[in-house]
Amino acid sequence: MNKRERDLSAGNNLEVLGYTSAPEATALIDTLDPKSRLEMASVYQQAFAGYPWYEVVACKQCGEFAKEGDTCSHCQGTVFAEAYPTEWLLKEYLPQMVADYVPGVLILAKDETDSIQGFSCGGGIKLGELIEHKYKGKPDILESITTNSEVNPEKTVFYENETCISPTVQQKGMGSQLNFARVKQASELGFEHVCGRTINLPWLEVKKRHFAQFGYDCAAFYPEGDTYEVDGQRRFFFMATKRNGEN
Ligand SMILES: CC(C)(COP(=O)(O)OP(=O)(O)OC[C@H]1O[C@@H](n2cnc3c(N)ncnc32)[C@H](O)[C@@H]1OP(=O)(O)O)[C@@H](O)C(=O)NCCC(=O)NCCS
Repeated sequence: MNKRERDLSAGNNLEVLGYTSAPEATALIDTLDPKSRLEMASVYQQAFAGYPWYEVVACKQCGEFAKEGDTCSHCQGTVFAEAYPTEWLLKEYLPQMVADYVPGVLILAKDETDSIQGFSCGGGIKLGELIEHKYKGKPDILESITTNSEVNPEKTVFYENETCISPTVQQKGMGSQLNFARVKQASELGFEHVCGRTINLPWLEVKKRHFAQFGYDCAAFYPEGDTYEVDGQRRFFFMATKRNGEN
């Protein structure tokens, strides 16, 4: 056991919550107590307001996120709103982030006072639908991802949708534990393919390690046609595929 895992097991615990359908997934969010839902919203806001995203405000004209509400670097707009308003997270995004990927799992990391400090989620979706949804249907990206990963668009894959950790407890192994638990669930649910997107290279390395531990080979690449980048770092798409006979 390394130091981070010791730190984590000393003061935190993981709660693994599974669901098999979209109504079950939204009901799960509804049944969390209000304090927990607020903590999830707050963790999400704080995590994405920091490195490497700095999504603090959103330009009202084009929707581009920014660190500060000055002049939008994308469209020169000058009117900004909060990047992730609490009400929107509570009423729309948290239910949607689980219900769109089923069967799936939501994993909560809590501290010794039972406060949520981080969470991770993901679940099943057809690869073609995922690409349509995440890349707004650009045909060259669909072609690039299906060719590079050798996975048919009709195949249902496990999509690693979100992981976020409160900045006050980042770099202590919590994200790594959540990711490990999520890959374990994907493997136990019988998924042959687990995929996702990231611009965070150290985080991608963690994922590759966990995939290997559960018998998946992982290919990461920049999809042709995806021009998204943060501070010069392009966004990877990764597809992990179970090695034959390791289910
Ligand atoms: C990415 C994130 C989930 C990682 O959680 P965490 O608890 O800080 O990560 P861990 O402590 O488990 O560290 C995992 C690995 O990532 C590395 N890492 C994490 N954050 C890092 C950072 N900011 N800079 C460099 N390396 C980082 C760690 O060094 C560690 O690598 P190692 O095991 O090889 O030493 C967390 O930083 C976060 O919520 N970030 C903002 C939201 C986000 O980017 N989510 C992922 C979207 S793809």
